[in-house]
Amino acid sequence: MEEIGKWQWLDFDELSSTNDKAIELSAEAPAARFVVTAQHQTNGRGRRGRSWLSEEGNLFMSLAMPFAISDLNQLVFLISLSLYEAVKKIAPHIDLYLKWPNDLLADNRKISGILLEKGENGYIIAGIGVNIVSAPDLGQMNPYQSVSLKSLGTSTDRISVLRQFLQELDKNEQLRKSHGFSAIKELWLQRVKGLGTEIVVNGEKNTIKGIFEGLDEQGHLLLRQGKSINKIFAGDVIYSQQDEKKNK
Ligand code: BTN
Repeated sequence: MEEIGKWQWLDFDELSSTNDKAIELSAEAPAARFVVTAQHQTNGRGRRGRSWLSEEGNLFMSLAMPFAISDLNQLVFLISLSLYEAVKKIAPHIDLYLKWPNDLLADNRKISGILLEKGENGYIIAGIGVNIVSAPDLGQMNPYQSVSLKSLGTSTDRISVLRQFLQELDKNEQLRKSHGFSAIKELWLQRVKGLGTEIVVNGEKNTIKGIFEGLDEQGHLLLRQGKSINKIFAGDVIYSQQDEKKNK
């Protein structure tokens, strides 16, 4: 195990899924916080039952750490903000922004994904994929296309992104400790696209439209519909008809 900041790092050539391995290891609690990476995944998974094609050269990592279940929603914002900052430092020229709840879009396409799961012994597992050299097909069900750092003109590698990301995450976690989640939320809202504009939210069962007013103190999306402001707990945000399936 190698140490990166506050993290113990374990790297594997191939795994079915780094989340599976991190969950398995959490039963032994090898370190207070550890990160599992693999050069290749044979059965990577995404949100809402989707699969995550895992071609070599991209970053596949799973963080395992204790995190209060009551604050779990905050972790998504902590991680997506840190990913934004890591990618922005490595590729400052890219048109990068966040999309609720946890997407990072570059040039209007998806460059990373986050999947939170429960480990053993109170560990939370945060699986993160970042497209470094290739942009896997996300399938017809996904409203956004994918993109890689390489195709946007940035040549880097998975380990550099891993290191930069963990540095940003440790920094933002300090900020959350000292100033609370509201400080994270504020930075996140500065980097999200479409605040104050009309958005569409694709939920499990229905699709709704409204004005993106912000986030509540737990990170739920606040959507204005007529005179009422509704809280949205889960879904995928689509910005406008023109963004959908762009570049297809
Ligand atoms: C999404 O659907 O946007 C989330 C994708 C999460 C993919 C990552 S890759 C590393 C980790 N291992 C997995 O099997 N999934 C996550």
